[in-house]
This record gives sequence, structure tokens and C-alpha cells, in this order.
Amino acid sequence: LFANIELAPRDPILGLNEAYQADTRANKINLGVGVYYDEQGRIPLLKAVQKAEAEFVAAGAPHSYLPIDGIGSYDQAVQKLLFGADSFLLAEKRVVTVQSLGGTGALKLGADFVKQFLNGTDVAISNPSWENHRALFSTAGFNVRDYSYYDADTHGLNREGLFADLKALPANTLVILHGCCHNPTGVDLDTEDWEQILDIVQEKQLIPFIDIAYQGFGDSIEDDAFAVKLFAASGINFFVSSSFSKSFSLYGERVGALSLVTNSADDAQRVLSQLKRVIRTNYSNPPIYGAMLVSKVLNNPELYKLWSDELKGMRERIKSMRNQMVANLAEAKQDFSFIAKQCGMFSYSGLTADQVDKLRTDYGIYAVSTGRICVAALNTNNVKTVTDAILQVI
Ligand code: LMR
Repeated sequence: LFANIELAPRDPILGLNEAYQADTRANKINLGVGVYYDEQGRIPLLKAVQKAEAEFVAAGAPHSYLPIDGIGSYDQAVQKLLFGADSFLLAEKRVVTVQSLGGTGALKLGADFVKQFLNGTDVAISNPSWENHRALFSTAGFNVRDYSYYDADTHGLNREGLFADLKALPANTLVILHGCCHNPTGVDLDTEDWEQILDIVQEKQLIPFIDIAYQGFGDSIEDDAFAVKLFAASGINFFVSSSFSKSFSLYGERVGALSLVTNSADDAQRVLSQLKRVIRTNYSNPPIYGAMLVSKVLNNPELYKLWSDELKGMRERIKSMRNQMVANLAEAKQDFSFIAKQCGMFSYSGLTADQVDKLRTDYGIYAVSTGRICVAALNTNNVKTVTDAILQVI
């Protein structure tokens, strides 16, 4: 039965974790997967999460089934975080939000929904994009194409190419846009870019799908949702996938959400009914634990403040590691100052696949073969080891 099944290639990001775990070198460093480590090199358990956990355990709640669309107070809190508590869309009940299995789960629900109910066939992702976007949408049955985004010469945005490519897309193409902290490049759009993109998607009748997995790692929780709020204010229909994996350090709990902006409360009701069928036929209903913790934090002003301060600390620590990298690499023949201008967890370092290979084999430093490194895994103890190794391989 299984004799003809071919061996699949290792996942370009999570596969690195497997290789890293199997590496017996004591001084190995994992800059592959997008995970925030603290100054001591540990994945933090946030204080706000710890407090919510204590409350949850003390309540001794039974492990019942959740509603198909998840915890209601969680879904509502997600909406406020993304669209703003005072959004007219929320007042008019035009937004549908369902709890999902992380941001990836939200993307897959969205993909299935577009395929089944909107006859979607084409999707466009940035070049480059998160490694899993292409695989996820092609597995869901879409033709996946690229739109220009990154300019390798300037380490910045290829603005002209971006706008020209978006304008050339056929109507009804689903366009995946990174809401903030572009993964993998760390090159973000400014407010005027977003305004222009909004004009294009309206004029060309494209379907925007904003993927925002790093809210709070750019400028602030509120500012990072600028694009979502801008699109919302225009009244158009669009999709948003969001995640608390990174911002709550809840990776393994799979806490995300899919939100759809519709034209009316009536539209929203029908959309929700179908989305629930998509969920039910995939995994029935979502898990309780992580979403319950997030809901407790987001709905309690004191815990919210604690969380937002902790997130600020993470964001600022990453920025200081960027500056440290730039300082350590100042003597290199090539310019690395762009690392301090990028934002979010990643730096698209410009290292070639061969150089990344050499980092792994010679120094036990793991990075994605595209040259993406996770700056959030650096700390004052390992940053010099990493930059010294980079100076050796380039
Ligand atoms: C990443 O890009 O490293 C993260 O989003 C983790 C993942 O699922 O790939």
C-alpha cells in the first residue's frame, strides 16, 4: 500500500528544529524558527499568562467541548485588538471571528472557505513570503503566484514592482498581505504604501487576506494593526488571520483566529454558519486552554497592561540585538546596517544558502536556507558568537 510513497523533503523551517535537536554540539544556536527567546536563552512564560493560568487552574473548570467557533469572549477580544474597540464594524456586527489552531490554522480555514464558497482559484503571495504560504494554499487547491516585494540590492521594498504586479492580478485573486513585521524580510510597508494597496485591491477587485502573526513586535500593539484598521475603515470585505503564538509566547497551544469583514450583520450570520461547517469537518471544535488564557488577559485591564509591558520588553530587546549585530558586523566588507532598519523577529541577512550551510556545519548555527535568521533568538551571550561566525563565512 505504501511502497510508492516518496520521501517528502524536510520542512524548511520546522525541519530545522529536528536537525537542531539531533545536533549534539553543546554550543549550537537555533536561529531558524520564529520563536522569541529571552536574555537567558529560554522561551519565556509571560507573567500575565502565569497569572491567568493560576486563575484557570484554581477555578477547576471541566474540559468540556467548546462551541465550534471557539470561546466567545476570546473571539470578541481578538476583534477589539485587530479592529479597535470603537470600530463601527464591530458595532454593526459585520465582523465574523472564529478561534483557530494558530495563525496557520486560520489561513487554512480561510483558504478552504474561499475555495468552497467564493470559487477562489488564484492566490498571490509576496516574493519572498513565509515558507508555508505557498505550500498551504497550493495544498488547498489554489494556483499560487508571486508579487514583487523585496529588493535584494537595497534590502528594502521593490515599490514599483509591488504596485505593478498587484495591478496586473486578475479580479478575485486572493492577495496575502503581511500586516506587520514581514516574514521573512522584516521590510514593512509604510502608511502611504498601504493606502495605495487599498486603492489597487478596490479598483482591481482583489480579495485581501491580511496575515498578522507578529502584532506587537513592530512599533506597538495598536500601531501594528494599522493596515487592518485602514482596510476596515474603507468598508471593503477582507480576511485577517492572526496569532498569539509569539505575542503571548504560547507556541504549542495553537492560539489564533480568522476574521472576515462582511457587509452586514446578515452577511456575517450566514458566513459564520458556513465557516462553522468548515471547522466541524476539519477538527470539530478548537482546544480550550490557550484561548482561555488569552481571553483572561485581554479582558482584564490589569493583566492586559502587564502583557503589553512584557511585549514591549520583548520588542525592545530584539531591537537592541539588531543594533548589536550591526555594531559587531561594522568591520565586514559588506554593509549590514539594514539589519537595524528591519522590524519584527527576523532579519533577511543576505547570507547565501552556501553560507547558511557553512554556519550550520562549521559553527552549529542554524538559519533558514534563504538567509533568514531569527534575531529574537539572540542574546548578549550568543550574539558575538553568531556575528563572528558570519564574518568568517562571508
Ligand atoms: C516561522 O516562520 O518560523 C514561524 O511562523 C513558525 C512556523 O510555523 O513556520
